[in-house]
Amino acid sequence: MPLKQLVPSEMTADDIRDWCSVLNDMTAADMPAEPRWRTDRLRDYLVGTLPDDRRFAFLYRDDDGDLIGHASLIMFGGDQAGTGVVEMSTRPSARGHGVGKALLRAVAACAKAEGCRTLSVEVIATTPAVGFYDRVGFKRAVVEQRHLLRWADVDWEKIEQAAGRLAAGYRLEYHAGGVPERLLDTYAGVKANLRANADVAVVPEWRGSAQADRLRDSLATLERRGMRSHIVVALAEPFGHVVGLTELVVAAQRPTRADQYDTVVDPAHRSYGLAMSMKARLLTELRRAEPQLTDVQTWTIETADDVRWINSELGFVHDVDWYDYEADVDKLIERIERDA
Ligand SMILES: CC(C)(COP(=O)(O)OP(=O)(O)OC[C@H]1O[C@@H](n2cnc3c(N)ncnc32)[C@H](O)[C@@H]1OP(=O)(O)O)[C@@H](O)C(=O)NCCC(=O)NCCS
Repeated sequence: MPLKQLVPSEMTADDIRDWCSVLNDMTAADMPAEPRWRTDRLRDYLVGTLPDDRRFAFLYRDDDGDLIGHASLIMFGGDQAGTGVVEMSTRPSARGHGVGKALLRAVAACAKAEGCRTLSVEVIATTPAVGFYDRVGFKRAVVEQRHLLRWADVDWEKIEQAAGRLAAGYRLEYHAGGVPERLLDTYAGVKANLRANADVAVVPEWRGSAQADRLRDSLATLERRGMRSHIVVALAEPFGHVVGLTELVVAAQRPTRADQYDTVVDPAHRSYGLAMSMKARLLTELRRAEPQLTDVQTWTIETADDVRWINSELGFVHDVDWYDYEADVDKLIERIERDA
């Protein structure tokens, strides 16, 4: 059988090495300016999930035993049960021969067997994956703009100034690796406002929660997966409650690239410039804590004008769009079988 389904903890050291090699061949062909993947903690990255989530891996080897394609399927639990996220790559030299379709057929069958009804996938707009997902019947649900801040272009004087400009009655705290217990409840409370003011429309694997216990799980999962979190919170005096937060992650598997995730301010504390101060402060901390970094990426939806303005003030530049595609699992299976 060229195609094998397994849980990531069953992957051998060779599987992990080959997985990384396909990812890097794909990156070199489709997104040559993007940083390459490393095998450092790649096993942890693939194995770690939130307690209610499950992940399966699919490996496609040719007759010589060379890995020519792979896929990952994460199925969410909890309040997102019934939905899953797919990631797939075919080695560029093996494309156009049905490997992608065979992987997707296996993914869809697994999803159905596990009770998953909807699959989504994130696709970079300039890559051949767009044609593939259109062909197999996925529909574009959301367009996100990816913005990149290149370390070499950062105006540090401007960032330091922005970090130091803070409205009276507030203070900022920086935390690496998680949120202290004393802040967890009010931190989670601010997260509840996220949908109204999100940097990110959909982040498949990082789902911060508005509940303290789930938030604790989320942060612990990031750490287990080799993803170092860096967080700045805005606290309102005199009680020291969290009223704003911004989160960023650096993955051991791609340590020159940071992913800026959520930034959110409690509605009662908006218009005081807190988001700008927090994001600028986070960048100054990051410069010290992660000296190997070369850039930071973030995503905004088209309507998030306030976030986009802050990002552009900090030096982020929009370089490419990302599409979130979705498909109904039953319809996907029907379509693949019909075309077979
Ligand atoms: C997307 C990807 C996995 C497709 O792999 P593949 O092995 O070449 O796909 P297949 O050969 O199985 O193609 C299946 C069908 O899609 C079509 N197709 C594939 N790529 C296409 C493209 N760029 N444009 C139009 N149609 C395309 C094929 O012609 C085929 O059609 P058919 O059913 O009529 O024969 C591969 O291009 C890839 O690895 N891309 C980079 C990874 C990536 O960005 N993934 C997205 C994020 S997870």
